[in-house]
This record gives sequence, C-alpha cells and structure tokens, in this order.
Amino acid sequence: MRKTIITSVIGLLLMVAASLAYGASGNVSSTLHNLSAPGTPFYKGPAARAYYAGSVSSGGETQVCVFCHTPHNAAIGQPLWNRATPTSTFNMYTSASLTSVARAVNAPGGESLMCLSCHDGVSALNVVHNMPTGTGTPAGSLTIAGSNLVPMISGLPTTIGKDLTNDHPISFSYAAAQAETPTKLNDINTAKLKGIRFSGPNGDMIECSSCHDPHVAYGNDSHGNSIGGDPSLRPFLRVTNNGSQLCFACHNK
Ligand code: HEC
Ligand code: HEC
Ligand code: HEC
Ligand code: HEC
Repeated sequence: MRKTIITSVIGLLLMVAASLAYGASGNVSSTLHNLSAPGTPFYKGPAARAYYAGSVSSGGETQVCVFCHTPHNAAIGQPLWNRATPTSTFNMYTSASLTSVARAVNAPGGESLMCLSCHDGVSALNVVHNMPTGTGTPAGSLTIAGSNLVPMISGLPTTIGKDLTNDHPISFSYAAAQAETPTKLNDINTAKLKGIRFSGPNGDMIECSSCHDPHVAYGNDSHGNSIGGDPSLRPFLRVTNNGSQLCFACHNK
C-alpha cells in the first residue's frame, strides 16, 4: 500500500515536471518562424512581418516545418534539415580578452549555419532542398508573396547578416573555453542544467541554438503582433533573460 502511494506520488511529480517542461516549449506554429500561408487552417502566426515590405509568409504552402525540416533525404543530416548551407563568407567575432579557443574560430559551425541559412540576409527564405509532396519538382522554391527568391532585408535588426564581428562569440567548444577560464564560466554541466543547449559531435559547441530555441512561442513579436506563449522567452530564447538569467547560465560574473 505504502509503496503504491509512493509510486503514485512519484508518478504525479513526474507528470507535473513533464507538463512544466511542455509549458515552456511552446509551439512554432504561433511564431515568426511559421512561414506558411496565412488564412490556411493551421496558420497561427502574426498577420504581418517586417522582413519583406508588407508581405507575409508563403503564397499557398500550409506546411509549417517544411521551411526548415524534411522527413527524408535531408540536406544536412541533423535535424533532418531542409535548407542548403549558406555560401556566404562570414566574419567572426574576435577580441583580445577572449580565450585562445574562442579567438581561433574562423567560420560558423553547422548548427549556426542552419539559422544563418535565413538570417544571413542573402539566402532566400523560400528555397528548400526537398519541396513538399505534390508541388512538383524535388528542388526549387516555395512561392512567398508572389516572388520566388526572398531573402531577409539586410539592415533589419532581425537580419544578423554575414558580419558576425558584432555578435556574441559562437562556434567553439564551451568546455575548452571553460577549461581555460574556469573561474569565469560555469562548468558545462551546470550550464546544461540551467537550460543551455550545446551541440556538435561532442555535445560541447556554443552556437546560436545554445541561447535560442527556434520553436518557442513568446507572446508579442518585435513588431507588436500577438502570437501566444511565454513573453519572457522573447525573442526565441531557451532560458528567460529576466535578471540576465540567460547570461548567468554560463557566465560567473
Ligand atoms: C525556422 C526554422 C524551423 C522551423 C520552422 C522548425 N524547426 Fe525544428 N529545428 C530547427 C533548428 C535550427 C533545430 C536545431 C536546433 C534546436 O534543436 O533547437 C531544430 C530541431 C528540431 C528537432 C530536434 C531537436 C529538438 O529540440 O527536439 C525536432 C524534433 C524539430 N526541430 C521538429 C520540428 C517540427 C515538428 C517543426 C514543425 C512543427 C519544426 N521543427 C519547425 C528549426 C526549425
Ligand atoms: C526558414 C528561415 C529561418 C530560419 C532557418 C531561422 N529563422 Fe529566425 N526568423 C526568420 C524570419 C523570417 C524572422 C522574422 C523576421 C522579421 O519579421 O523581422 C525570424 C525572426 C527571428 C528572431 C527575432 C524574433 C523577434 O521577435 O524579434 C530570432 C531571435 C530568430 N529568428 C532566431 C533564429 C535562430 C537562432 C535560428 C536558428 C536556430 C533561426 N532564427 C532560424 C526566419 C528564419
Ligand atoms: C549567448 C547567447 C546568444 C547567442 C549565442 C546568440 N544569440 Fe541571438 N540573441 C540573444 C539574446 C539574449 C537576444 C535578445 C537581445 C535583447 O532583446 O536585448 C538575441 C536576439 C537575437 C535576434 C533579434 C535581434 C533583434 O534586435 O530583434 C536575432 C535575429 C538573433 N538573436 C539571432 C541569432 C543568431 C542567428 C545567432 C547565431 C549566429 C544568435 N542569435 C546567437 C542571445 C544569443
Ligand atoms: C551558452 C553560454 C553563454 C551564454 C548563455 C552567454 N555567454 Fe557570453 N560568452 C560565453 C563564452 C564561452 C564566451 C567566450 C569566453 C572566452 O573565450 O573568454 C563568452 C564571451 C562573452 C563576452 C566577452 C567577449 C570578449 O570580447 O571578451 C561577453 C561580454 C559576453 N559573453 C556577454 C554575455 C551576455 C551579456 C550574455 C547574456 C545576454 C551572454 N554572454 C550569454 C558563453 C555564454
């Protein structure tokens, strides 16, 4: 009897934990990352975006994930990526106060290139590797507002561009940098427990997705459109930055 009660209490706690975790994860459908056509049954995104004057999303596509993922024959294996690697040359952040590991970076890593395949201001948002089934050719572009090749407008705050010299350093091993400056950075397991994601073959690279979750819903977007979710996770943050919590997840300052 006692065992049953303990088991059910543990079960209940696990359910609560799971629902909390789910509550924080949100839904990409109701974010700026939903590029599917407004007006279709599954569209829950904002009514207007700034990246392309007056335009919204795709001309007729109802799929939400297809702009980034494909179930088969993915372009980059993980996570079933449906976009070509950007061909731009990027300039990386550097400074004299960085560790030698962080200073040695000369190109973005694969996980960051996924974001930059739209945010470089050059790559067209609507060119995917595998077209959705039923729309014809296996490689090509989805129509966005009548145009076939639509990059994000360069110069917008949301367009990070090719110049990463003014952006937080990325694409090096966090564990290696932490080993160089152990008193300044939390160890990698502490950072992970605080909600940070590290990627790459050894699971230790700091990339855009260390701080950002491209699927998370966060209430109003930067253009004031209401899109549901947790407002403290704006813009697409993995951990809230209230009180600089995101920064403190890694930095011991
Ligand atoms: C704007 C681009 C974008 C869209 C749209 C998108 N994703 Fe993702 N997804 C990513 C990126 C980038 C990653 C890798 C980084 C990460 O996991 O945070 C990823 C990772 C994933 C992963 C593996 C890692 C994890 O966190 O579970 C799954 C599963 C996934 N996406 C499912 C989906 C589904 C299902 C949809 C549609 C409902 C979708 N995604 C829409 C960009 C996108
Ligand atoms: C399929 C193209 C695409 C991919 C891939 C993509 N984004 Fe975006 N992202 C967009 C568009 C379009 C917007 C909206 C820009 C606007 O309206 O100003 C956006 C907006 C954002 C915003 C700003 C949200 C706001 O409310 O201001 C952030 C942050 C962001 N993306 C981060 C990322 C990160 C990090 C990744 C990779 C993990 C990523 N994006 C991958 C297309 C993409
Ligand atoms: C160390 C954490 C961190 C990393 C790494 C990071 N970001 Fe961000 N990013 C943030 C935070 C925090 C904000 C919100 C800043 C604010 O609102 O003051 C932000 C904002 C943004 C915005 C919105 C800009 C705006 O002014 O509206 C975009 C787009 C974005 N990030 C994309 C990216 C991309 C793409 C990468 C990788 C090349 C990346 N981020 C790497 C933490 C990070
Ligand atoms: C995922 C872990 C992580 C997060 C989250 C993070 N940082 Fe960093 N940050 C690093 C690492 C690693 C370095 C490189 C340290 C080194 O090489 O000395 C760094 C470097 C810096 C630097 C030093 C740049 C230089 O030129 O020496 C500043 C400033 C900084 N981060 C600010 C922030 C702020 C502000 C936030 C929150 C918005 C933040 N970071 C979030 C890991 C992180």
